Amino acid sequence: MMKMILRGGRVIDPSQNLDGVMDVLIEDGRIAELCAHAQEDGAEVIDASGLCVLPGLVDIHCHLRDPGFEYKEDIATGTQSAAAGGFTSICCMPNTSPVNDCAAVTRYILERAATVGSGVHVYPIGAISKGLKGGELAEIGTMKEAGIVAISDDGKPVVNSNLMRLALIYADHFDVPVVSHSEDPDLVDGGVMNEGYMSTLLGLRGTTRAAEEVMIARDILVAETYGKRIHLCHVSTKGGVQLIREAKARGVRVTAETAPHYIGATDAWVEGYDTNTRVNPPLRTEEDRLAVIAGLVDGTLDCIATDHAPHHADEKNVEYPLAASGMVGFETAFAVCYTELVEKGYMDLPRLVSLMTCKPARILNLPAGTLAPGARADIVMVDPARSWTVDAAKLHSRSKNTPFDGRTYTGRVKRTLCAGRTIYEEA
Ligand code: DOR
Ligand code: ZN
Ligand code: ZN
Repeated sequence: MMKMILRGGRVIDPSQNLDGVMDVLIEDGRIAELCAHAQEDGAEVIDASGLCVLPGLVDIHCHLRDPGFEYKEDIATGTQSAAAGGFTSICCMPNTSPVNDCAAVTRYILERAATVGSGVHVYPIGAISKGLKGGELAEIGTMKEAGIVAISDDGKPVVNSNLMRLALIYADHFDVPVVSHSEDPDLVDGGVMNEGYMSTLLGLRGTTRAAEEVMIARDILVAETYGKRIHLCHVSTKGGVQLIREAKARGVRVTAETAPHYIGATDAWVEGYDTNTRVNPPLRTEEDRLAVIAGLVDGTLDCIATDHAPHHADEKNVEYPLAASGMVGFETAFAVCYTELVEKGYMDLPRLVSLMTCKPARILNLPAGTLAPGARADIVMVDPARSWTVDAAKLHSRSKNTPFDGRTYTGRVKRTLCAGRTIYEEA
């Protein structure tokens, strides 16, 4: 039997309401026991003193770009980047080429993850519509059999409200959550950043916040009418948070995520025209950023997901309006969130851990996000006191498109274990 002990760390597991210095005993890739002092008994012992020992982070929204865009990322580099960021379970969006809209592509992703992946558990998200074209529904049932955990047209909104209605009804038969990228493309109207003072100052075309809020309202109303559940991606505006707050108060089955860049960056970062700040939905104002944080604090927003979206340098080294949208996120997520939310006093560390482990896992029914005895030993060890400066060149992702480059944050991932095996260790 393979035995391992993580000795003397601060073990934080919100799924069990646990926070204290103790040992973690791992046997055959599973959590055997959390206790004051585990007997050595031939086990490999890893010193965790001074570190926090957390359930491996769970990311229910990322882009691995494989198949089809391997020049941006592939399943090998993407899962290495995830491991370096402390993630042990990740859900990848279907906007690949071909699109993950049928069982064959779902199986390809799972097979690549099992053969060339870093060990991080990969859960594919299937498309809502065939080819992400917004016309007819994809083969949800056969994709579910093949292993998808949700459906989404992410990257694109579902413009046709009736298609969204059918998706919610149909997906419910298969117990597959529907995940929405809520942006009205007509209201986006060619905008490349948030519409407001900064877009005027910089001379860039702005996108009204209503583009996001109109679609959030539509999604909520359709789900509410049919009593179905819906999960909303990357909420970025104050008005969006308020719509979700009110929907939850009336009992709508809506859950929502935000991303680290809406917690730790604003449209002021676009000054200088760094194309790594371009993302959909766009970085918003300080007022929105504070509203998103308030939404996380009061539970309106259920979790944090990275929206890790790698793009090649050639797609970013262009004029701002021509640049691809999206930023890599795995390797900066914990530090940005720790610094902005915990260090700045909005919440304690266990609360942040819940937003990055058990809460996202629950939304997509993943067997992850807990250190309960019997669970897979997916664990991340972090040094919350370590400050470090992001160096894009050193990221494990194949792409380096991060607006956090050169900035200093607190909270460092030291070691990541998947099923009891170390898959990342800080150099
Ligand atoms: O900025 C974005 N990039 N937003 C999305 O919704 C999709 C993503 C991508 O795939 O690059
Ligand atoms: Zn999206
Ligand atoms: Zn996305």
